[in-house]
Amino acid sequence: EIYYNATLYNQTPIASTNYDRLEASAKLRLPAAAYDYAAGGAGLGKTVAANRKAFDQWQIVPRMMRDVLPHRNLSTNLFGRTLPAPVVMAPVGVQTLFHPTGERATAKVFGELGLPYTLSTATSTGFADVAEANGDGSPRWYQLYWPSDDDLTRSYLRSAKENGYEVLVVTVDTWDLGWRTRDLDRGFFPFIRGIGVQIGLEDSCAHEKLGFNPLAPNATAEQKQTAALYHVITTSRGISPVWRNLTKLREFWGDGPIVLKGIQTAEDAQMAVEYGIDGIILSNHGGRQVDGAIGSLEALPSIVEAVKGKITIGFDGGIRSGADIYKAIALGADFVQLGRPVLWGLAHEGEKGVRHVLKSLLAEFDLTVGLSGCETLDQVNSTFLQRVE
Ligand code: FNR
Repeated sequence: EIYYNATLYNQTPIASTNYDRLEASAKLRLPAAAYDYAAGGAGLGKTVAANRKAFDQWQIVPRMMRDVLPHRNLSTNLFGRTLPAPVVMAPVGVQTLFHPTGERATAKVFGELGLPYTLSTATSTGFADVAEANGDGSPRWYQLYWPSDDDLTRSYLRSAKENGYEVLVVTVDTWDLGWRTRDLDRGFFPFIRGIGVQIGLEDSCAHEKLGFNPLAPNATAEQKQTAALYHVITTSRGISPVWRNLTKLREFWGDGPIVLKGIQTAEDAQMAVEYGIDGIILSNHGGRQVDGAIGSLEALPSIVEAVKGKITIGFDGGIRSGADIYKAIALGADFVQLGRPVLWGLAHEGEKGVRHVLKSLLAEFDLTVGLSGCETLDQVNSTFLQRVE
């Protein structure tokens, strides 16, 4: 479709098909604080760079004349659903920073293409509105920043269940915020607003939704809102989740898969298996938490060796092209998540830009599978890769 539009109809796409040009163009369209918030990483940006470097250390070794079909089958099964491709929207907070339509636009496009959409705890759009945009029956997941307050946790999970979010993604690497220098220098912390939206602080009965009353009954609505937000922030930050509490979380969530996001070692992946967790997402939060950490793809082979087949393995961090998706799948990931590329797409007229970016990445992935000599995902394995320094 993208080729035909360009060659036959001379229609250039809404945004570039190349990541670097896409990001450069998004930067021109966005307020500086929003661009910096998304582009930035922790500290000196070493982990952001390591994520990219890790992809350059693997090269694809294509095979020829293998009698492959003109159309590939990229479908896969994840948590009981058959999906057209192993691609999921990464949870990203406060998306209205990038376009007024924010989460509605991204959820709509992922729904249209039948790919899972993950709603962040720090969303700028509520559970129901995102579910509506995502569409009836579309696969949607909910990402939890796990609060130390059980009432608050239950209230998030209840809303997620009521609105058809099927998979619970628990982010375990951000119980305190990394040293984000670009945001610190600007005093810019938009996710706090996002958390407020999620619990309905936009209306005056937030404390009731939360199931507790943080202030005396005669407090004004505004005082109650402030107190509720303060409570949410203080119980959502600074206290690390621990393995033994997963039993409790399983009970709160009830039926349905639980996935831990932010796992970076084979040891932690094995712990997840021992605790009966359904999946992990190998992720360093796009380099936004620990500066100088291991590049995400660097950790993939050891995790695959330890837990492949015992637990579903997701991957994110530095996916910028279809070839990158190919490398992660060839190294053993069951699915990949897209973060920043989708945001830069969103900056280009909302859903139009998101659709273009997602379709481009899928098209390039599809071509890479074919041009390397494969037809289906099970054929894509590490024999098609070579490690270089
Ligand atoms: C994130 N990420 C993230 N993760 C999460 O679990 N909850 C969240 O609310 C957010 N919010 C968020 C905002 C922004 C602006 C970015 C860039 C990232 C991390 C995200 O899910 C994913 O791990 C990374 O984006 C992957 O890295 P790349 O490929 O985007 O560089």
